[in-house]
Amino acid sequence: MPSISQKGSAMPESPIRKLVPFAEDAKKRGAEVIHLNIGQPDIKTPEIALEAVRKNTIDVLAYSRTEGSDTYREKLARYYGGNDIQVSAADIIVTTGGSEALSFVMGSIADSGDEIIIPEPFYANYNGFATGSGVKVVPVVSRIETNFALPPIESFETLVTPKTKAILICNPGNPTGYLYSKEEIRKLAALAKKHDLFLIADEVYREFTYDGATHYSVLQEEGLEEHAIIVDSVSKRYSMCGARIGCLVSKNKNVIRTAMKFAQARLSPPTYAQIAAEAALETPQSYFDDVKEEYVARRNLLVDELKKIDGVQVATPKGAFYCIAELPISDADDFAQWLLEDFRVNNETVMIAPAAGFYATPGLGKNQIRIAYVLDKERLKRAVHILKEALNSYIG
Ligand SMILES: Cc1ncc(COP(=O)(O)O)c(C=O)c1O
Repeated sequence: MPSISQKGSAMPESPIRKLVPFAEDAKKRGAEVIHLNIGQPDIKTPEIALEAVRKNTIDVLAYSRTEGSDTYREKLARYYGGNDIQVSAADIIVTTGGSEALSFVMGSIADSGDEIIIPEPFYANYNGFATGSGVKVVPVVSRIETNFALPPIESFETLVTPKTKAILICNPGNPTGYLYSKEEIRKLAALAKKHDLFLIADEVYREFTYDGATHYSVLQEEGLEEHAIIVDSVSKRYSMCGARIGCLVSKNKNVIRTAMKFAQARLSPPTYAQIAAEAALETPQSYFDDVKEEYVARRNLLVDELKKIDGVQVATPKGAFYCIAELPISDADDFAQWLLEDFRVNNETVMIAPAAGFYATPGLGKNQIRIAYVLDKERLKRAVHILKEALNSYIG
């Protein structure tokens, strides 16, 4: 039989999706599954974006420009300006989701065997993009005890080798909900400059910051223009996950020139979705105020309810819409599967994401889960109740 590639074999399974067959089976057997496992918001997409597609009169659904349409990139540059990030359309490549931006970035800056340092736990698909590009992920452990704050900068520096090409952060963090402070970004920026590394920031959750905290972008940092790369997306910002529009932003002309070659190979980002994303930029601030208020209320409910469960430790998120909880169990993979196969409260169960897949260090996160609070408060409360009952029954 013809053999598949080594990198194909090494490609990690998504920790978020691998339990799907068990959830499907539970549903077939008539159970209701509450999904805490996936970051698909239930928030409505801004009407202005949907309407722009509905009323469009395109008669040939043509390719767009490889780097994305001019009007969209010009308006995007204005959006960034409004966030104190000074870039022009020429610094932006529109991509098919933030996912494609991540793979373009890795392809553009690293060769096979090169290393990228990433604080863990991190968005699990970084592992997949790194494997696809032959890049080695070098993790730095951040801890639940400190709410997953930036680990001491020395722990990054000791990991820098001649193969290190970049530090990658997610800010605010998926799966941690941690929001890096300006001081923390400054420390990373200084290290990136000292060792001539790229500082890649996945800022797809930029708008989702709570308790009065503000987001500080790597592209706000003066003197970091050649080092900073932003990965961005409309997926969560406007609850437009299915649009598949993101972008890569950098003032470094070599990065843009190189990423453009990867972009040319896939011809162009989707045309209709760019129309929707361009219109979404007109979304009024009141939309974000309402969405943020809702997420804060959900977060508060989730964290308060989880804290009431014996033996559960939880990091309070300051941004995004995820949190990591540590449970009094030894293997969250087994627990998650058991929930779907064997446990019900009034014929309902919950699907959680075991956190081990968000770590690169083997053995870490085995007793942790990631919860996405993208459900209404009533369902969220029921879900935590089910978790509590399940833990009682599982631990015995
Ligand atoms: C941190 C982070 N980065 C990137 C992505 C990719 O998003 P998309 O490809 O939908 O833009 C996600 C999606 O969940 C994410 O959580």
